[in-house]
Amino acid sequence: MKDDITKALQEKYEALGQDLEDHLEGLLHSKPLNYWDYIQTDALLNLQTTRSSYPDEMVFIMYHQVNELLFKMVLVEIDQLAKSRQVNASIFADKLHRISRYFDILTSSFSIMKDGMSVEQYNKFRKTLTPASGFQSAQYRKIEFASTELINLIDKRFRDTIDRNSSYENAFEHLYWQAAGKDYKTGKKSYTLKVFEEKYKDEFIRFTKFYYGNNLYSKYKGLPKEAREDKNLIKAMRHYDYTVNIKWVMAHYNTANHYLNIGGETAEATGGSEWVKYMHPKYQKRIFFPELWTKQEKDNWGVDI
Ligand code: HEM
Repeated sequence: MKDDITKALQEKYEALGQDLEDHLEGLLHSKPLNYWDYIQTDALLNLQTTRSSYPDEMVFIMYHQVNELLFKMVLVEIDQLAKSRQVNASIFADKLHRISRYFDILTSSFSIMKDGMSVEQYNKFRKTLTPASGFQSAQYRKIEFASTELINLIDKRFRDTIDRNSSYENAFEHLYWQAAGKDYKTGKKSYTLKVFEEKYKDEFIRFTKFYYGNNLYSKYKGLPKEAREDKNLIKAMRHYDYTVNIKWVMAHYNTANHYLNIGGETAEATGGSEWVKYMHPKYQKRIFFPELWTKQEKDNWGVDI
């Protein structure tokens, strides 16, 4: 063994208060690494438990799992950028390209959902999934919290009533997605929303506190003027915003239409939302980086798509 490596190892284990000899002996007895152990293929391929006997349900489960893995990749990237103290326009744009690449995959592959299952099978096995809904994807919500300031996720009907002095609790109650699980006349929450909040609300508030000044938009706004005006960076920001909030949302909406709008009759979704209205970008008006779009672009967000 090279002297410098031996020395570095000695220093490493000394600092840990550990005996290098013991660790070297451990190496002698440990098994060589295999691909399947490292990637945990056995565990991974045992995570698909169907609730019906329809084969297309496997497509449904696995594609959702692929989505969750890619959501995690997005969050890992955003986390790196959020914690980085030395960001310039080029590093920022580079990271955004990475994040967008994952969402580009999610958008272009959504046809697996729309055209990759039989409508007949889908409408049978989905009945076994009520009241679960993709609406309950915590990582999707985290991507939103990590991408923009909380105010941009507030239901646009209530934006004027929420300011920096509002508590997280109050802001949380007025997030745009509450509309999918709440009857605004009675204020009653659906079961789907209630259990989702019971499981994740505390975690979301903690997460949002960290991202208060560290989300992508705040981070961008904290860059020097010259960097903020960098054309490549602005292009990357707009691309990400458009991909997540229009292209993905529309691919999703068109899929819902394909399965749940049969002969002009709208079927109720598993999560029970008024989905036809709720899911369209022109109603949600969710825009991560509003300053990077013109008034006209914002007014026409999701219109004519
Ligand atoms: C056949 C495929 C799909 C259909 C028909 C569908 C349908 C719907 C509907 C109707 C909603 C509104 C809430 C409700 O009432 O349940 C919803 C929400 C949602 N779904 Fe899907 N979905 C599909 C696939 C997916 C996939 C693959 C994902 C990826 C994880 C996903 C993630 C979500 C998310 C994140 C929401 C909340 C969106 C928001 O608040 O704007 N969905 N889905």
